[in-house]
Parts: sequence; structure tokens; C-alpha cells
Amino acid sequence: MKRVDDFRLRFGKKEYVPIVIGGMGVDISTAELALEAARLGGVGHISDAMVNTVADRRFNAKFVKEKLKQYKFNVANTDKSVVQFDLGALAEATTMHIGKTMEAKRGEGLILVNCMEKLTMNAPKETLRVRMRAALDAGIDGITLAAGLHLGSFALIEDHPRFRDAKLGIIVSSLRALQLFLRKTARTNRLPDYVVVEGPLAGGHLGFGMDWAAFDLATIVADIQQFLRAEQLDIPLIPAGGVFTGSDAVSFLENGAAAVQVATRFTVAKECGLPEDVQQEYFKASEEQIVVNNISPTGYPMRMLANSPAIGDGIRPNCEAYGYLLDASGHCSYIEAYNREVAAHPGVKRLSVMDKTCLCTQMRNFDLWTCGHYTYRLKDTSHQLADGSYQMLTAEHIFHDYQFSTDHQIALPEPVAG
Ligand SMILES: Cc1cc2nc3c(=O)[nH]c(=O)nc-3n(C[C@H](O)[C@H](O)[C@H](O)COP(=O)(O)O)c2cc1C
Repeated sequence: MKRVDDFRLRFGKKEYVPIVIGGMGVDISTAELALEAARLGGVGHISDAMVNTVADRRFNAKFVKEKLKQYKFNVANTDKSVVQFDLGALAEATTMHIGKTMEAKRGEGLILVNCMEKLTMNAPKETLRVRMRAALDAGIDGITLAAGLHLGSFALIEDHPRFRDAKLGIIVSSLRALQLFLRKTARTNRLPDYVVVEGPLAGGHLGFGMDWAAFDLATIVADIQQFLRAEQLDIPLIPAGGVFTGSDAVSFLENGAAAVQVATRFTVAKECGLPEDVQQEYFKASEEQIVVNNISPTGYPMRMLANSPAIGDGIRPNCEAYGYLLDASGHCSYIEAYNREVAAHPGVKRLSVMDKTCLCTQMRNFDLWTCGHYTYRLKDTSHQLADGSYQMLTAEHIFHDYQFSTDHQIALPEPVAG
């Protein structure tokens, strides 16, 4: 019976344990988590989502404060279109977050950055260009293009000296999305080094509509494999979404996948950025509590725990400090939903906004508990303690469980007293 460890992810002459820990913004996939994956010979991701906030927290910087100071005059204004990111500061924050992570890297694995196109930041092209170039300058091993079709993203870095040496990959949820990407980037004469195929059971935003349940990861992977074979394209495929045991991973690897990307199991690792009380909510979750809804202003459905404090919370938009979801003309659908409720309930202090959420503030505060479909199985991966809470895991324990387990077994950690 095969184990994940019987397979290797190959990039050129280099080999890696074929386990990729997916990017989880905002700093849920921390540097510590990614560093563990690399130390263990696999692939870790950090994320550049809300990088100003992340750099402030990690390095005691003042990027958010500075931006808020600059735009304080606009806080009460319903129109947020004047709020712009300082591109120099954005490059600096990205360089800090990524540079310090890469300096700390040990072991043979890779560290990639998850770069979401939907973080349009009131200047989609300019800010994405700065984010990707700063990541390459700071020595990141590679960039995973996420949350968007990224039809112009390669072009934004094609003149960068590392364009051909850094690993560049994309997350897609359909053959069509991959075909479009390949067609639009053909001009740069560079194929992606890997394609993450993300199915409907993943955490975060989904590349499907509300009919996500009608799709199945294995079928999408097989479609893409068939296409690549017919086109004689040799691009490693990395299925993601619902790979919960080593044996789930093996079934994809035996069918030709180069690696698997996983995330949910690591949300309860002590290296993960979620606060411990939130991690306990993930452990405790029941299947009924895992919902997919449309409250994200990105326009993509998102999976989350139904008891997330963000749901229905009518907090005032804080684009002067954040503003990552502002589109090219300074709009965000949460602002519209919020302003509608303000107009309908004049003088009410604590508003409820049900149809959209202020994604920046809620993710920053860890109040939107996005999660994968199998979060309700996390309780089977640890011990329940006498006080009803669950024993935290280490990233190494989870990584090794994926790497060495057979028969869909999940190794429990050494029990601790308590
Ligand atoms: C808490 C959480 C946050 C996530 N955030 C992001 C993100 O910011 N960007 C992204 O591309 N994918 C995100 N994902 C998706 C993962 O990177 C990964 O592809 C997917 O969840 C793998 O499936 P699994 O969680 O069933 O293992 C997130 C997943 C989780 C669980």
C-alpha cells in the first residue's frame, strides 16, 4: 500500500515531498507555517493579502497608521474612490514580509506566495505589479496566482530578471480557466511551472458558483490532464480541496498528480495564524455549521463557519486604513450595502448588514472564519481534553501524518495532560 512519501514533486532536477500547504490570507498561513513545510522538504505558502497589516504585526511597522493618517479626512465620506495605496510603502511592506521569511528558511523545501488578483486595491494593475515584483526582489521561491483569471499577470513581470527562474503557478477550478490563461499568456513564451486545480470543497473563495456541489475535483483534474496530454504540455498538476488524509492524497498521486495542496488540516496547527479560541471553533464545528454564501464583496462564493462573528455585522467600512477590495473605480459592494442600511435606519448605532461583509476588517480581526468543507472532521485529528477543548497540533505532526499514513488513518498526537 503506497504512502505519499513514495512520491516526489519534481521541478527540473529538484525533488520535494509532494505536500503543498496552501496560502491562507490574512496571515493564517504564517511564515512559521510555511517555514515548517519547507524545513520538512515540502512546499509552504505565505500570502500577501493585507500585507501592510501583516508587516505591522510582524515587525511593529506603521503602514496602516500612515495610510489612515493620510486619508483621515475621508472617513465619514461614503465615496472611497480617493483612497489609494502608496506603491512605495506597499513594496516596502511586501519586501519586509517576504524577505524576512526567506532569510529564515531552512531545509530543502520551497516557500511560495499566494497572490490574489481580487485584491484590486483601487488600482488593480499597478498594485499587483508592485506586489509581484517586490516578492521576486525579496527572494521568494515562487508565486501562486490566485483568486482571479490573471490574464495579464505574467505580462506585469515579464521584464523582471527572475521571470524565468522563479516558480510561477496558477490556481484554476476549470479547464476553461486554464485554457484562457494559457492563451492570454502565450505571448510571454513561458508556461506556468505548476497548476493548482482547486475543487469545490476548498476553503476561502471558490472558483465555482453556488452550484459548487455539482462539481467534483477528480473529474476536473482528469479533464485538465486529458487536455495537457493532447496538447503535449508537461505541467505538474496539484489538486486541492478536500484532501484530508494521506490516502486521499495517494489516490491523486497514483493518478498522475504531481503533489496535493492542503490547508484545512493545518488550521489547527499551533504555527497557524488563527487565534487559539478561533482554532477551537474549527475543531468543534459540525457539518451543518459549514456554509457557502455570497457575502464576500469579491463576487466569489466563500466557505465559512456559520457562527463567524462577521456574518451580519454592519461595521463601518474602513477603506482609509485598508481598502484592499476597492475596484478600479473605488467601489466595493460592502460599502454600497452598508450605505443602504445607514439610509434605511437613520440614527441606528449598531447596524446589521446581511448580504455583504467588510472582508478587510473582518479578516484582519479573524472574525470571518473561512474554512474547508471537511473542517467538521478536525475533531477526529486530535484529543478532546477534560475541559472540552481540543489539543493543539504541530504542523510537523500534520505534515508527517499526510506523508506517512496509510488506509485513511489519521495519527493522533501524543496526549498532553489537561
Ligand atoms: C482558512 C483558509 C483560508 C484560505 N485562504 C486562501 C487565500 O487567501 N487564497 C487562496 O488562494 N486560497 C485560500 N484558501 C484555500 C487553500 O489555499 C487550499 O487551496 C484549500 O483550502 C485546500 O483544501 P483543503 O482546505 O480541503 O485542504 C484558504 C483555505 C482555508 C482553509
